[in-house]
Formats: sequence, structure tokens, C-alpha cells
Amino acid sequence: MNEKDYFELLKFQSISADPSKKKELEDCASWVEKKLTGIGAKVERWVHDGHPPVLFALFEAADPTAPTLLIYNHYDVQPIDPLDLWKSPPFEPTLKDEKVYARGASDNKGQLFYTLTAVEAFLKEKNPPPFNLKWVIEGEEESGSEAIHKLVKEKKKELKADGLLIVDGGMDSLKNPTLGLGVRGMITMDLKVTGPNSDLHSGIHGGIALNPIHYLVEILANARSKDGAVLIPHFYDHVKILPKVDREKFSFHFDLEEYVHLYGIPPEGGEKGAYAPKERGSIRPTLEVNGISGGYSGEGFKTVLPSFASAKVSCRLVPDQDPEETAQLIKNYFESKSKPGAKVEVHIHAGKGPAVRCSLNSPLLETAKMAVEKTFGKSPELVLEGGSIPITAELAEAALCEPLIVGVGLPTDTIHAPNENFSLEQIKLGTSFIKNFLETFDKEQKR
Ligand code: BES
Ligand code: MN
Repeated sequence: MNEKDYFELLKFQSISADPSKKKELEDCASWVEKKLTGIGAKVERWVHDGHPPVLFALFEAADPTAPTLLIYNHYDVQPIDPLDLWKSPPFEPTLKDEKVYARGASDNKGQLFYTLTAVEAFLKEKNPPPFNLKWVIEGEEESGSEAIHKLVKEKKKELKADGLLIVDGGMDSLKNPTLGLGVRGMITMDLKVTGPNSDLHSGIHGGIALNPIHYLVEILANARSKDGAVLIPHFYDHVKILPKVDREKFSFHFDLEEYVHLYGIPPEGGEKGAYAPKERGSIRPTLEVNGISGGYSGEGFKTVLPSFASAKVSCRLVPDQDPEETAQLIKNYFESKSKPGAKVEVHIHAGKGPAVRCSLNSPLLETAKMAVEKTFGKSPELVLEGGSIPITAELAEAALCEPLIVGVGLPTDTIHAPNENFSLEQIKLGTSFIKNFLETFDKEQKR
């Protein structure tokens, strides 16, 4: 595995949210499959109903009763818009100042690439491997993991493991390494307010007809209080408070200056008065509007009273909020706001996942701590990630083992945004971390 391979991987336009990229996703999967086969894996392509394939790779130990490690990555990426803000084309990987710029450079192709590099290097020294190594790589993480959601239920036997390493996480800085002991859950939905049966002249109808855009923003605004709390009844009912003793084991470090420097804004969102920024970003649930549309927003002006307006809304969930139940609750709440002249409909998207919290005393955590110390020369702090990896809970359940969220993603990678990047330093440290993890896992299992 070398830089050329990394660039090849980055060239696939594997945007899972875009139905026109089906072939790109297939081709990307085939590329990854070939690499896995090339380093000695038996690979299965798991497919579900036209969705991008899930790759399942197995590197068998000589002794089949040896312990098993399961690794998770994804080969799909987020959409590229707004394209005009990219300084180099998103699917033409560009090396500049020791950083590679491309969509997926970090999330998750960069992390997949260094994991491949590390596994290859590990197997060069130990082949067959001293433990069974299983690897699932899906192509739909960025759009809700629908296929793997179905497949894990059918493939429990194949997925059984003694430890699950989700290589799709990050840290605040390479100088202060962290390990992720949780992710937030996720639900997504479309909200549509339908008014008149066609766009209307705003002179003839303004003041008479209801404007769906106004009504949409009104119901959205009313769903949250001035200080950022979600006002939808029962939204917080099942939220479990993290006990103080557990809370103290995690870092909620937040560098205000760094935040302002990186993003140009102070941390003014969420339940501001009640919780610190990192708490709001990891152990509290949220409801956010991710996009809004309706009426005319092209060049110039059009005096139109729109026929409909819509919004994309998502929630980050924490233990023990149930994704289905919470989504239904929100759907019912918004739909109950329908009134004459403005019909509210909510479409809940299929891909969802609950929050996950990993055990603080799993052997896997000890292994990862040792690997971090060896790689970074420093012990890791433990964190709860604010992001979501929807399949984590179900994968851990199918594998019958503890998960752990690791990775060398950084805030400066600008994942999901223009000019996503990953440094050669991150690749080096990521590779070294995974290789050290595999070696430590081997040693720890033999003790
Ligand atoms: N790797 C991220 C999640 C993540 C980000 C974990 C930062 C830790 C730190 C993952 O690829 C991701 O972006 N997930 C999406 C899932 C969603 C589209 C269903 C997310 O969190 O928005
Ligand atoms: Mn992502």
C-alpha cells in the first residue's frame, strides 16, 4: 500500500447520498476488495436490494479457535457541494504542504487506507495472523447505513468477535491523543409544509393566502427555546444523565480560543446556559435544521407566494433515547401543527442508529491505551464523540463484544465540508497506531 493506492481510492466518486453514483460505489468496493484479496483476505460481498455492497474480509488464524478482532470502516463519502469553494477538485487528490486534499481524504478513506497499510505490514511479519481478523467495510455510512443494518441481522455468526474497532473517529490534536468511548445516535427527516396548489402571485394573494415558508420557519423556531432546549414534549424523557463518577473519567476539554480561530464563531449554540460546550456536543441530544428550501432563491427576484416549503431536520441522540420512538414523537409533533391552508408532513429516513457508550473496563480499552502510548508517547484521554456512526450499536450486538471508536481524524480535516484534507503525518501515525494495536491485541490475548 502506498500513496498511489491512496490517491486511486480517493478518485472514486463514492457519494452514497447520490443515486447517480451507484456505479462509482460499486467500482470503489471492487477496488477495496482487490486490495484486501491482495494482502491475503478471503472477501465476501454482502448485498442488499441494490444498495452499495458491504465488504466482509476474513484473515484466518492458523488456529481457528484463536480470538477474533473485528474492524469497521466505510468507503462512501459525503456530497461535495458547495463545489465552488474547493481549491482543488474534490475527486482529484492534491498534495499540498504535506496534506492531501480530496473528498474522503480523512472521512473515511484516509482512515481506511492507513488501516489497510497497517494490516498489510502486520501480516508481512505474521502470516497467517496469530488471531482471526475480520473486517467489515460498508458503502453507506454517510447516508444512514441501511444495507448493513439489514445484513448484520443475517450475518451474526460471521461477525462474532472478541473486540470491535471502529476506525472512524478523531481527536482534537495529535499532541493530545484520545480514544472514543461513545458516539451519539442519529435520526433524520424531511419536513414539508404544503400550501396552495401552485405558486401564487404575491401581490394578488399576499395578505390572503398562508405562506408555507413562514409557517415552516415558525414551527421550526417554536420547536426550540431561546436558550437552545428542544421544546417537543417528551423529547428528553429517556435521556440518561451521566453520573458524576463516570463523567469524571472523560475529558470535556474545550479550547475557546482555538474554536474561535478555527471556525470564526464563539460557541453560542445548544443548551448554552445549562451545559458547557463539549457537554452540549457529546452528552446532550440536539435537534438541528440542516437545510431549508422553498419559493424562489435564484438570481434577481420573483414575487412569488410559494406552494410549499421544506426542511431537513436531524437529531443527535444520547442514551437511552430510542431512534424509532424519538423520530415518531417528532413526526407526530410537527404533523399536529397542520392547519387550514398549511399541511405539515414528515418523512422519516430509514437510516438511523442509537447512541453507544463503551465499557470503561473492557480489555479492548486497555489494548488501545497501550497502543496509543506506544504510538504517541502519551496516554490517551477518554472522550465521548459527538458524531454518529449509525451501525455501531448493532454491529457490537451482532459481534457480541465491546466496541471502541478510534482514529486520527482532526478538526482541521474539515470533513463533510469543502477542502477536506488529511496530512501525511496523520497517515503515518494512524498506520503506526493500528499496527501497534494489532501487536498489542496479540500479546494481550496470549497473557
Ligand atoms: N466519522 C464520522 C463520525 C465522527 C465524526 C465520529 C467526528 C467522530 C468524530 C462519520 O463518518 C459521520 O460523519 N457520520 C455521520 C452519520 C450520519 C450521516 C448518519 C454523522 O455523524 O453525521
Ligand atoms: Mn462522515
